[in-house]
Amino acid sequence: MVRKKLIAGNWKMNCLTAEGTELAKAVAAQVKAEKLACDFLVCPPFTLLGAIKKCLRGTKIALGAQDVHFADKGAHTGDISPLMLTDLGCSYVIIGHSERRVDHFESNELIKQKAVAAHKAGLKTVICIGETGAERDAGKTIKVCQDEIFGSVPEDASAQNTVIAYEPIWAIGTGKTPTAADVEDVHAAVRAALAKKLGKATANKMRILYGGSVKPNNAAELLNLPDVDGALIGGASLKADDFVAIARNALK
Ligand code: PGA
Repeated sequence: MVRKKLIAGNWKMNCLTAEGTELAKAVAAQVKAEKLACDFLVCPPFTLLGAIKKCLRGTKIALGAQDVHFADKGAHTGDISPLMLTDLGCSYVIIGHSERRVDHFESNELIKQKAVAAHKAGLKTVICIGETGAERDAGKTIKVCQDEIFGSVPEDASAQNTVIAYEPIWAIGTGKTPTAADVEDVHAAVRAALAKKLGKATANKMRILYGGSVKPNNAAELLNLPDVDGALIGGASLKADDFVAIARNALK
């Protein structure tokens, strides 16, 4: 099964207008020049979505947000609806990132509800899962990831509208990564859980990204594993050279 790799940048709460547009323009120019055979996605903060959309015009780089509310509109102070995201030109949204699950107490049920609403609005979702350091030390990695798949991936998920991102929480922003063998084991177990939930055909087509301290120097090892279909990149997505270097290494 050939799954096209997806190289996704999660800018998190970084960049004001000048810095963000400069970064997006640099990424756009490099991606255009190199014609790399993967899909690209950048997810800036809400405040920059409109400005970055303009920078990506004429490129194949998709625009995504980092979170979404499940309602189309209404009395939800401070929240952003799926329709607001499509209105701004987003085609993707990250849902259930560990920084949302932990800092904002988001449950599997809420994440599933958001994913259903996003799909209804025509957005593709990147649904994040991953274990804490303590869960890993207790040997619970695969159980935690499979439970998150069963709990937060909606029944309407398809290979077209959903991407999974496996991000061990202890690897995010720490410079630490699991071994390549551990990553492959978890991804294979996640795919097995997806097969149980959505059927084998869908699971075989669905992309499963790895995230957590992906850098140009570890990209080739982590991203060419059989069940790894791309990367969700935080810190290194804030440097155009590093972001594109990761994409190059994902294809070796
Ligand atoms: P990192 O973040 O690449 O900085 O570790 C990844 C993520 O949280 O998506």
